[in-house]
Amino acid sequence: MKVRIAPSILSADFGRLAEEIAMCEEAGADMIHLDVMDGHFVPNLTFGEKVVRTARKATSLPLDVHLMVEQPEKYFDSFAAAGATGMTIHVETSPHLQRQLTRIRELGCLAGAALNPATSLITVREALVDIDLLLVMTVNPGFGGQEFIPESLDKIVRARQLLDELRSAAALEVDGGIARDTIRKVWRAGANTFVAGNAIFTAQDPKGEIGFLRQECLELA
Ligand code: DX5
Ligand code: ZN
Repeated sequence: MKVRIAPSILSADFGRLAEEIAMCEEAGADMIHLDVMDGHFVPNLTFGEKVVRTARKATSLPLDVHLMVEQPEKYFDSFAAAGATGMTIHVETSPHLQRQLTRIRELGCLAGAALNPATSLITVREALVDIDLLLVMTVNPGFGGQEFIPESLDKIVRARQLLDELRSAAALEVDGGIARDTIRKVWRAGANTFVAGNAIFTAQDPKGEIGFLRQECLELA
């Protein structure tokens, strides 16, 4: 399995956003993760399609858009037009998950489904055929810099088993509290796509940190 590092710009300096994204690309990041929050589904507000557009201009890397919003389908067209490569929606806000994922694919984007820590894997099982990426949240979404929830490890093991059992090639992404110590454990548990915000952007050497995170996994490979 290939290790894919997805820096979350939530912890970047927004005054220097284009430079921060360029730094991630130079450091070998595999994609840029963009956290869209609406202040309803999660208790925080971030940004909309304009920032996705800015990111699209700043890099040729895939843009992994994480929609922590109610009624995410209202925004699919504008985020696709802004240059999103993939859109990930939460099962907690998506009662018509199969239809919503299909719509994301119709727009030419990769379709992802995300689960909060307390949400069971069973909620996505029947839709896995329509999924390019399964995101297992390892914190309760809403803020950067939170602590990794250790119970998530067992869920990642079970998510990997489920994907293998259904012969799904979907990426298994983890998001929240990923740093040098936790990335080893989630990689060993079966994840292959790692979102990291705080660990990268508060590091003394953010560029080097991207390499260090990848190295932690490769040493175990
Ligand atoms: C949390 C967001 C994350 C966040 C991760 O709700 O979905 O993508 O930026 O930040 P860290 O890596 O700081 O936990
Ligand atoms: Zn995220």
